[in-house]
Amino acid sequence: MESFKKISGVQGELEYRGDKSISHRAVIFAAMADGVSRIQNLSFSEDVGSTRAIFKQLGVEITGGKGTYEIKGRGFKGCQAPAGELYAGNSGTTARLLAGYFIQQDFPTVLTGDESLSKRPMKRIIDPLALMGGNLQPNEANCLPMKISPSDHLKPISYLLPIPSAQIKSAIVLSALHMEEPTTITESLQSRNHTEIMLELPVKTVESQTVITASRANYPKPFEMTVPGDVSSAAFFVVLALLSENSELVIKNVSLNPQRSHYLTLLQKMGGDIQIEKTGSSLHEPVGNVIVRSSKLKNIFIPGGSVPLIIDELPILIICGLFAEGDFEIHHAAELRVKESDRIASMVHNLRAAGFEVEEFPDGLAVPDGIPETGTTPVFDSFGDHRIAMAFAILSLLLKDGGKIDNFGCVNISNPEFLKQLNIIIR
Ligand code: S3P
Repeated sequence: MESFKKISGVQGELEYRGDKSISHRAVIFAAMADGVSRIQNLSFSEDVGSTRAIFKQLGVEITGGKGTYEIKGRGFKGCQAPAGELYAGNSGTTARLLAGYFIQQDFPTVLTGDESLSKRPMKRIIDPLALMGGNLQPNEANCLPMKISPSDHLKPISYLLPIPSAQIKSAIVLSALHMEEPTTITESLQSRNHTEIMLELPVKTVESQTVITASRANYPKPFEMTVPGDVSSAAFFVVLALLSENSELVIKNVSLNPQRSHYLTLLQKMGGDIQIEKTGSSLHEPVGNVIVRSSKLKNIFIPGGSVPLIIDELPILIICGLFAEGDFEIHHAAELRVKESDRIASMVHNLRAAGFEVEEFPDGLAVPDGIPETGTTPVFDSFGDHRIAMAFAILSLLLKDGGKIDNFGCVNISNPEFLKQLNIIIR
């Protein structure tokens, strides 16, 4: 159980370890390439550790540590058959992206995951990968464990994404990279685009839809990169700095990919004093600094089209909405129900524990204006979900009576440095 007390403000400068989504892709592309890639500031998260561990089992040499790695990729179809099952831990990105890679390999694999990942839906990637001729056998609930066997009838597809999901899109791309003829993927609502950016895939806009093309011509080559800081991990302290008095926080060298930093734009629209300075880019991913100061915020309407771009930040944005003027309401966010926990149910449960009157919808929730005063210290459940744990840590730091969080260790899934960073900035 981790306890937090109300703080009087935050001041200082933070630099975040590499972005989790970019780091997964950096490891995967480096392992696939023929030769040595050098990666600096790789994510310290357990999730990226799962991706690294799987490629080691496939015979890829990964040396280094503390964020700096050399990865000797094995080239086109050069990985070795693993000796046992491949454990993706808690990481949906590892399992879903690699399923696309494995359908194209000449050896069978069995993908497994922890209790949470074993409940998460895999049909969303199985459908397009099976259309490509992939041979995937999940369990009877269409979840992990999933056996993937070699197939001799693989073919490119044209696919309209039914859900705006970077994981589905990237799984299809990873398969497409093994075939000469192009595969096209169309999305009506944009999802994060690191795969397209890092592989420099052709992307067109056709009648307000995004069309992405991938083929063997785009197969990764060895590269060097410094992974930009994780802007999703930064969201927790951005909100803390906005909502606590006398605060100024500088976040350096963070990813400024507009599809990931969209939450900063929304917070600015809510009245947030946030300055964004682009300083450069790494493997085409924009990087820069963000300066945040205490602000008076107002709730705004969040359109459905914004939801895929803030999907990982929604738990902390909901916390932010509690302190902004006016009622808070979010819809079109049913995807939250299939994350590391059912994030709508987890938020509702914990907010009610702190005395908030929450209305739950199938695709969101609503909370009326005002902070309840219960006179007791609430106890929150992380539900083993890193973003729920961190969101309620921030709420606890803002509530008069603080808060306690059960099962806080899960923060290591994305940010093992959360408590260390908090101690640097707390005043
Ligand atoms: C991710 C995509 C998103 C996001 C996840 C990371 C990625 O999932 O929630 O944390 O790196 O591709 P969906 O593709 O399910 O939206």
